[in-house]
Amino acid sequence: MAPLIDTADSYHWHAGETGHNELLVARALTRYGGDTSQVLVATKGGRGRTGDGGWTVDATPAHLKKAAEASARRLGVDAIGLYQLHKPDPAVPWEESVGALRDLLDAGTIRTAGISNVTTAQIRQAHRILGDGLVSVQNRYSPAVRDSEPELRLSERLGLAFLPWSPLGGISRSSLDGPSGPASPDPAFPRTAFHRVAAARGVSPQQVALAWLLARSPAVIPVPGASRPASVTDSAGAVELTLEPEELAELESRLPD
Ligand SMILES: NC(=O)c1ccc[n+]([C@@H]2O[C@H](COP(=O)([O-])OP(=O)(O)OC[C@H]3O[C@@H](n4cnc5c(N)ncnc54)[C@H](OP(=O)(O)O)[C@@H]3O)[C@@H](O)[C@H]2O)c1
Repeated sequence: MAPLIDTADSYHWHAGETGHNELLVARALTRYGGDTSQVLVATKGGRGRTGDGGWTVDATPAHLKKAAEASARRLGVDAIGLYQLHKPDPAVPWEESVGALRDLLDAGTIRTAGISNVTTAQIRQAHRILGDGLVSVQNRYSPAVRDSEPELRLSERLGLAFLPWSPLGGISRSSLDGPSGPASPDPAFPRTAFHRVAAARGVSPQQVALAWLLARSPAVIPVPGASRPASVTDSAGAVELTLEPEELAELESRLPD
């Protein structure tokens, strides 16, 4: 299992801190001391922060090229392992933004390209433009939010990895809080089925959710977020958890529409 770290140049709080999380990732890898040659650092460009919690979008080719070069410098690499276009920019024709990824591939600034927050039509068009250079799609997807099912199935058909973002329901709180349950249960989430399977297996509901995601398709590579090391260790354990057909059937039967 090769480790994947997902970041973005826009993962920061304050204005003027572009690349904050990329610098943290680079520093952590430098200080790790072990072999990091198999670690894939995936970053993103095309979004910015306003400084008051808001987000901006800029997927013009000029911005994407400058942003990718700056990300590579912050990550301390000659070529970025996976560079993802964070979000389509309604002000820029899609083929122009994707064309910038093509240019970055050709220039050797990035090794592979990904796209995020996209429709099936945008995936098809990007695949036509980038060919084998396109390797991944990253859309929101979790047990509670499955409207990107068509994008997941298309990714699978095209041989692309599908990276569900917020696979546990989001950063503010996981929809699957620990075995003791959350302060305010989310009525939209099938808590009982995930908690029941988790209790029977002696694992966390988060591990069951990630194992369920992995069982959805061989294309799926979830990117769970975490601020605690214990969450990271626990989530990584999902790779070893193979759900039985009857467990999967129970979970499926309790998913919200
Ligand atoms: N492409 C995009 O537009 C986009 C948008 C949003 C997110 N993302 C990506 O998706 C990643 C994950 O999204 P997210 O952080 O919003 O949501 P998430 O992974 O669904 O949820 C994160 C929350 O789950 C908790 N958690 C994770 N593993 C756990 C475990 N094993 N046991 C208990 N709690 C656990 C974390 O707790 P602790 O904090 O206490 O550890 C955190 O509160 C982000 O880091 C980012 O890389 C991409």
